[in-house]
Amino acid sequence: MCGIVGYAGGQQAAPILLEGLAKLEYRGYDSAGICVHGAKEMQVVKAKGRLKVLCEKTQDGASVPGTVGIGHTRWATHGAPSDANSHPHLSDSGSVAVVHNGIIENEAKLRSWLMERGVRFHSETDTEVVANLVGYYYDKDGNFIAAVRRALRQLEGSYALGFLCADLPNLIVAAKKDSPLIFGYGDGENFVASDVPAILKHTQTVSYMEDGEMVVFDGHNVRFFDGMGDPVEKQRETVTWELSAAERGGFDHFMLKEIFEQPKALKDTISPRLKNGQVVFEGIDLSAAYLKDVRKIHLVACGSAYYVSVLAKYIIEKACHIPTEAAMASEFRYAEPVVDEHDLVIIISQSGETADTLAALREAKRLGAKTLAIVNVVGSAIAKTADQTIYTWAGPEIAVATTKAYSTQLAVVYLLTAYMARQLGTMDEETYHAWVQALENLPAAAERVLCPENVETVQFLASRYYGHHDAFYIGRNVDSAICLEGSLKLKEVAYLHSEAYPAGELKHGPISLIENGTLVVAMATVAPLFDKMMANIREVKARGADVLCVTLEESAEEAAKQTDNILTIPKVLPVFQPSLSIIPLQLFAYYVALNRGCDVDKPRNLAKSVTVE
Ligand code: F6R
Repeated sequence: MCGIVGYAGGQQAAPILLEGLAKLEYRGYDSAGICVHGAKEMQVVKAKGRLKVLCEKTQDGASVPGTVGIGHTRWATHGAPSDANSHPHLSDSGSVAVVHNGIIENEAKLRSWLMERGVRFHSETDTEVVANLVGYYYDKDGNFIAAVRRALRQLEGSYALGFLCADLPNLIVAAKKDSPLIFGYGDGENFVASDVPAILKHTQTVSYMEDGEMVVFDGHNVRFFDGMGDPVEKQRETVTWELSAAERGGFDHFMLKEIFEQPKALKDTISPRLKNGQVVFEGIDLSAAYLKDVRKIHLVACGSAYYVSVLAKYIIEKACHIPTEAAMASEFRYAEPVVDEHDLVIIISQSGETADTLAALREAKRLGAKTLAIVNVVGSAIAKTADQTIYTWAGPEIAVATTKAYSTQLAVVYLLTAYMARQLGTMDEETYHAWVQALENLPAAAERVLCPENVETVQFLASRYYGHHDAFYIGRNVDSAICLEGSLKLKEVAYLHSEAYPAGELKHGPISLIENGTLVVAMATVAPLFDKMMANIREVKARGADVLCVTLEESAEEAAKQTDNILTIPKVLPVFQPSLSIIPLQLFAYYVALNRGCDVDKPRNLAKSVTVE
């Protein structure tokens, strides 16, 4: 969702801010703005719409001189996207400028309190309350840092905030609670941003800010404070990503690049966890004694990460013999779940910032469960809050629709399942070694699915089906879980109405929607259920459906008797088949979206990191 960036140093700030904001576009936004401190005064420029509107308005930053500034991409929550509602916001007196990512929950109360004291408001946003609160205290006693601190104490909700003060031309103050914020160290210049890609071009040395912390900096000096206002020493960390990881690198879209990065992402995630034929998790404590006492495993997540959880239920329950449930984080937290210290709660999240998932994690901890997070973004709130964290090493995922994060989350599920089953003694030696072998071979198998012939076939089928209005994804067992993700991809990037159903469930209702030409994507990779799937295909074909079947290479001939349109994947250990079968579905959604002229990397209304409930 919203992204913030701040720069203090010797260069012109505006072009650096605009460039940083461009790297945060992936988070999702509908307007953007910057505020730069010139020699005499602060200048604010903001614009509804894409960043390029702001670039045009500022001549790529040239018309906003000054070497200290803050910038923002806004995803509307309070008030429609408009120039007035865009950030940065100035306090009524003009002494303070602010950018904000998050939600101020007690905004209405604070607004009335300020209005009673004669403060005027010029937008519908919750953020303007922050600008006015800080402005109110600053205008009274002239101590900017104290004014920020006092205002922060009154805020309820989540925030990453960046402030400028009209009277302090070199200074930026930033603070965070429940929204991500990193500080970047440069040479004679310093940065603050919502995420690493925004500043990666300038520095790889960062500090991850903790909830309640505040940073005060100019181009040369930086001071960090904790929530009590006491100075803190922050650890400097080196970001290991290359700048190229956050660039398109010759691909038309990040989504396509990330689909093709899956073999590498799988290798980076799996290899460090396989040593001498064993699955190892350094720093993770899941002893046999503990696991034997686990009554139930809850997998809790949102969106695609939830669909990984749905798949994980099949995988973990069968291998570990522990009852396992997948729950949507937004439902879990308000469902009064039956969870206590006998339960293991596994949280899955790419960003590590998803508001519902974070809240569910906190609820699970409050109820006494042991919590384990599977997260991609290092240092994120979920990674820090969970008792234990296993990172997926997918690298930065920029496209809004997840692909490589999904695949690596699934890879961690396989690793974790093998690890737990080994501890529990529920997996025999031979099966365990077959799993380890399959994990080792998975990146190469994914590479095979991405061979040019397969990609061309998907492209051809996408060009054939892109004009359809509805699609149904059907499958059985793990294929039914893959259908959920394939169908979501099509909805998200191609704006095509699509539903996923377990194939056996179709005739209990939704088959009434199948008519002449309806697209049905039928997954038939679960060998023991292949004949049943062929029967389901016959059922929908009899009602006029146009069927695209995804099946194993060895079953292609048989499947061709039922349908002409077939995509194949190589055979691997059956339980690992989903890691491969998702790839053609990702490609299919991507190419259908291209044919429909959609903005693939930034689908309408969607945000990469969903930091509001
Ligand atoms: C879909 C997608 C979303 C996310 C969901 C959770 O392509 O990306 O459904 O999976 O918003 O996000 P994280 O994993 O960051 O918690």
